[in-house]
Amino acid sequence: MTTYITTPIYYVNSTPHIGHAYTTIIADTYSRFRRLCGDEVRFQTGTDEHGEKIVQAAEKEGIGPREYAERISAAFRDTWPLLDIAPDHFIRTTNPEHIKVVQDILQKVYDQGDIYFSSYSGHYCKGCERFLTEKELVDGKCPDHLTVPDEVSEQNYFFRMSKYQDWLINHIKDNPDYITPERYRNEVLSFLSEPLEDLCISRPCSRLTWGIPLPFDKNFVTYVWFDALINYLTGIGYPDGADFTKYWSVAEHVVAKDILKPHAIYWPTMIQAAGLPPYQKLHVHGYWNVDETKMSKSIGNVIRPGDLVEEYGSDTVRYFLLREMSFGRDASFSKEAIFERRNADLANDIGNLFSRALTMLAKYADAKVPQLDEASITEEDRVLIAAIDKMLAEYTACMNGFEFHRALQSVWEVIGMLNRFIVTNAPWELAKDAANAGRLRTVLYFLAESLRILALVLRPMMPTAANKMAAALGLTEELDKAVLPEAGRWGGIQPGTALHVGEALFPRMEKKAASPAAPEKPKPQAKAEKKVEPAAQEEDGLISFDYFGKVELRVAEIVAAEKIAKAEKLLKLTVRAPEERTLVAGIAKHYSPEELIGRKVIIVANLKPAKLMGIASQGMVLAAKEKDADSNERLVLSAVAADIAVGSRVA
Ligand code: MSP
Repeated sequence: MTTYITTPIYYVNSTPHIGHAYTTIIADTYSRFRRLCGDEVRFQTGTDEHGEKIVQAAEKEGIGPREYAERISAAFRDTWPLLDIAPDHFIRTTNPEHIKVVQDILQKVYDQGDIYFSSYSGHYCKGCERFLTEKELVDGKCPDHLTVPDEVSEQNYFFRMSKYQDWLINHIKDNPDYITPERYRNEVLSFLSEPLEDLCISRPCSRLTWGIPLPFDKNFVTYVWFDALINYLTGIGYPDGADFTKYWSVAEHVVAKDILKPHAIYWPTMIQAAGLPPYQKLHVHGYWNVDETKMSKSIGNVIRPGDLVEEYGSDTVRYFLLREMSFGRDASFSKEAIFERRNADLANDIGNLFSRALTMLAKYADAKVPQLDEASITEEDRVLIAAIDKMLAEYTACMNGFEFHRALQSVWEVIGMLNRFIVTNAPWELAKDAANAGRLRTVLYFLAESLRILALVLRPMMPTAANKMAAALGLTEELDKAVLPEAGRWGGIQPGTALHVGEALFPRMEKKAASPAAPEKPKPQAKAEKKVEPAAQEEDGLISFDYFGKVELRVAEIVAAEKIAKAEKLLKLTVRAPEERTLVAGIAKHYSPEELIGRKVIIVANLKPAKLMGIASQGMVLAAKEKDADSNERLVLSAVAADIAVGSRVA
């Protein structure tokens, strides 16, 4: 099989930040995963170097756009290796091959009558580099850039996009996976329910020269989006390169929601007009904010990936970004959150597991993978093998479905089991009595083999850490050759393999080593508690029907649950209702995270978000509390029939 995965090509008007890093890490992780599944993979990223805003940014620096583009494009190329991002091709729109392809396609579409000359006036947002419709403006401003667009009135060339509207609607409807997650597919279909305007695809040279000249009218350059989107074809050798034939039919694009419309509407209609088959999939993710605030240069809260790598290393940064954002939804970066994940998930969970297991293998098995003793295999061992099999299936499905955070959650459930496995089997106790030698070898074999599988599945996300694990397990070559699902089958590690106990995977970080956490914001919950709605409550203590109607109770399914470091009573839950959200619930003493997955509960869905232990809780789970005769508290979660759809309103 083959995979072709792309990121947007980034504008060179500013240097890379964590938003760019996230998309590119996603594409890198996916390409590594598909390689692990045996695919031939082509992963492409690059820079978008033409257009008005590049000219403006260059002017500010007092240099020409070409020199400026050169400098910033290099900054992108230099950043990716720091994050272990390894694209197969880095495309630049200033490449002569690209310019030729754009002109060829323009000419083809023009010759067939799908490009015409006309006059136009509209609201042009330089930030978006496109005309915005009246409907898109909020208070007369672009909602993304919060600037008033320029009123532009001029003669230009137009692409007959409207001609392809019906085709596009049918294509999206017939192919449910064409645009995912579903909310973005719905957004596009809703936009397409109104008549589509034709697309202005030129700028007069009198206004802009930093672009690709139209082949049929040298007084105009092409519009930056028409230029940029074609990179996905140029990079694989359109029209007759071998890689074009090999990869175009499997093209998958990753973008954030900001450029949904160009990718979901302009691009498919352009491809259709060029007489090519449509791309396969568009994966759309949400936006990274910083401390719940939009990231922007003017606020001064832009997070640079290079700085983070310096502080935490590439694996922690990749892990954090993949784990913290549920693909499709927005997420918030904070120094506090990455620090917590580093110490809790990485240093404590996997780091400890790895170093304890290897230390014991060194001490009790002479730093070699022992031969296990079949007779001593217990029921608990079989449960562990079954759990690893289940994890591999979930992991594969989630990775293919771009649910990276869920793939990691399922791996972390196994890590939790393994840490408990060490405690319940206490190899240090077994080692005290020679009669237990067989069992000790079995326990140690189980640990070594589990670590092998963890290294395998974590490699797409954390290549450096996984390679360190493989080196310690004496499996560097095996891991390079490994192909899923075969390589994930239990029993792959060979007894006798020499182990190399080395450095810790994720040394615990001290608070002072991290940058100071963001100052505590006032706790919204405390405020919400005090605020009683006027006249909401009748004098007799009863509430009105209307008042109750304001409380939105919904059926939610718990899809992930985990302990929160330093909070004994709290669990962090990820629920679907039907959109995914995070809740913090005080139920840790009554439920283990594992038993919660898959349960359906009732939540208050419209509660104001509150931050608990640094985690924004978006709602509340309903549970019943009772006390027995000894004043022991019992807490039982609300429940509904298993077949009720998530998101159903409870009234
Ligand atoms: N040049 C166009 C894309 C042309 S693709 C044919 C462009 N460039 S951009 O530099 O503005 O990059 C936008 C992309 O950068 C987003 O779609 C996303 O991939 C990434 N991100 C930029 N800011 C982001 C966040 N704050 N959060 C998440 N991703 C973000 O648009």
